[in-house]
Amino acid sequence: MAELTLKKKLQDKVAIVTGGASGIGEATARLFSLHGARAVVIADVQDDKGQDVAASIGAHCSYIHCDVSNEDQVKSLVESTVQTHGCLDIMFSNAGIISKSKQEVLDLDLSNYDKLMAVNVRGTAACVKHAAKAMVEGGVRGSVICTASVGATNGTEIFTDYTMSKHAILGLVRCASMQLVPHRIRVNCVSPGPTMTPIMNSSTFQFESQEEIDKLQSTLGLKGGKDLMTPEHVASAVVYLASEDSPFVSGHNLVLDGGFKT
Ligand SMILES: NC(=O)c1ccc[n+]([C@@H]2O[C@H](COP(=O)([O-])OP(=O)(O)OC[C@H]3O[C@@H](n4cnc5c(N)ncnc54)[C@H](O)[C@@H]3O)[C@@H](O)[C@H]2O)c1
Repeated sequence: MAELTLKKKLQDKVAIVTGGASGIGEATARLFSLHGARAVVIADVQDDKGQDVAASIGAHCSYIHCDVSNEDQVKSLVESTVQTHGCLDIMFSNAGIISKSKQEVLDLDLSNYDKLMAVNVRGTAACVKHAAKAMVEGGVRGSVICTASVGATNGTEIFTDYTMSKHAILGLVRCASMQLVPHRIRVNCVSPGPTMTPIMNSSTFQFESQEEIDKLQSTLGLKGGKDLMTPEHVASAVVYLASEDSPFVSGHNLVLDGGFKT
């Protein structure tokens, strides 16, 4: 990533990035750091990758193992961040997964559904809850940003559970942003379209025909040689929402779809 020449937007801020070992979370942790964050705490379940990313960012970045579907681990993540760094200014609740089976409604695998909901919905709720509590207790006018998706406002052909989970994040952001107004804590989400990260590795799906692959690619807007977004594009939007560039933006769903519509 190129050196920043512009004003640093997150000077002295303390931030947590869940799912920060890879993809959008990793790019955002790096950009938070370039923007002057005093401490960036990466929380993930991929310990080796998370530790490597933190070490490559620098001494002000650390890694904590945290499975976001476990509320005790999320609570402890937030508490240890506040204990070590004095406060929490920014929570980027970004960890998320996609089911390994196609999740068309007629064949919905409810065991995969439960696993996905535990991470994408329960995990995000736990992160928003504990981050907001720490901000209220510390009198911090913080910023909470969640990662939703273009699937938060559109239907998809095969990702039923994932699409449901991202719709739920929108509901959470809308409720939390209203409830936290008295504390001047802002809550927003980013909704990326297809972005080049490991989650996009379609080898996890069992395709039965070229027609099915074509259908998926068309759903994701990949046909016709369209460019995919990179994690860095999403990270820039997160920095905007985390910073004083957006003091009156709350309850907002910042869609990054390059004009792509389902
Ligand atoms: N890549 C896309 O096209 C795209 C589009 C829209 C939204 N998103 C969303 O962006 C977010 C980040 O995904 P990504 O594309 O960077 O994929 P990614 O797989 O590179 O990153 C996801 C990270 O979340 C971590 N994670 C998974 N389960 C976890 C858990 N229980 N606790 C803590 N960490 C956990 C993973 O280990 C991984 O490091 C997800 O919420 C995803 O749904 C991605």
